Amino acid sequence: MNTQNDVIHNIMELSETEMTETEFLRSVENNMIPMQQFFTYYKCAIMEIETKFRVLNEQFSINGESNPIEFIQSRIKSYGSIFRKIITKHIPRNVEAIEKNISDIAGIRVVCSFVQDIYRLADCFLKQDDIFLIEKKDYIKDPKPNGYRSLHLIVEVPIFLENEKRLVKAEVQLRTIAMDFWASLEHKLRYKKDLPPYKLDLLTDDLKKCADQSAEWDSRMQDIKNIIESD
Ligand code: GTP
Ligand code: MG
Repeated sequence: MNTQNDVIHNIMELSETEMTETEFLRSVENNMIPMQQFFTYYKCAIMEIETKFRVLNEQFSINGESNPIEFIQSRIKSYGSIFRKIITKHIPRNVEAIEKNISDIAGIRVVCSFVQDIYRLADCFLKQDDIFLIEKKDYIKDPKPNGYRSLHLIVEVPIFLENEKRLVKAEVQLRTIAMDFWASLEHKLRYKKDLPPYKLDLLTDDLKKCADQSAEWDSRMQDIKNIIESD
């Protein structure tokens, strides 16, 4: 793998080719700017979507209710993950194809207190006339076989720039604290791939049981909330 020093070394070698200093700087800049611009669209999409959820969170609390959102985590997909997806999903190697086929370059995770908050927030968000739903995957109603639960929304949001308006894709994951707790730990454990098969079977089974138990907790917490808020 290239270290930062390797990269500096490569660039400096380029600088020693038959180029003037200006040509060299322009060549570095020309290569960097399109990539920075590409990622800026996704950063803007994250800002727009995060703001929409923060506004909804505030509005719910004006109504005398507690805030439905515990926290929001956002991330831009790394170069490495993007290139891995291009290879594994045989995506043509151009920007249009990447934009079209990779929906989670911008990722926003909204962690809520209760299961009903997830559906309420998702409804309010999707009702907004500048949000276009591309795909909805409800892994809460239909959990994955391993027990993974969350509501996934692939959406497009307009980004207004100096001279253009662009629709940018983003993946919004809505989950409860319990779902997030399980998914975060399961994700960490999944990277220990050198486990012997008998251990893997045992752990897969155990993780599934943990997921089902935490769903049971979510459901009991929701029931308690409903009783407190009734009459
Ligand atoms: P990919 O992103 O290519 O996997 O597309 P997909 O169509 O399989 O999307 P899916 O909705 O299944 O998953 C997208 C994202 O949800 C992943 O990048 C994870 O962040 C999360 N996710 C999905 N399944 C699991 C799971 O089993 N465990 C954990 N921890 N996270 C998951
Ligand atoms: Mg997947």
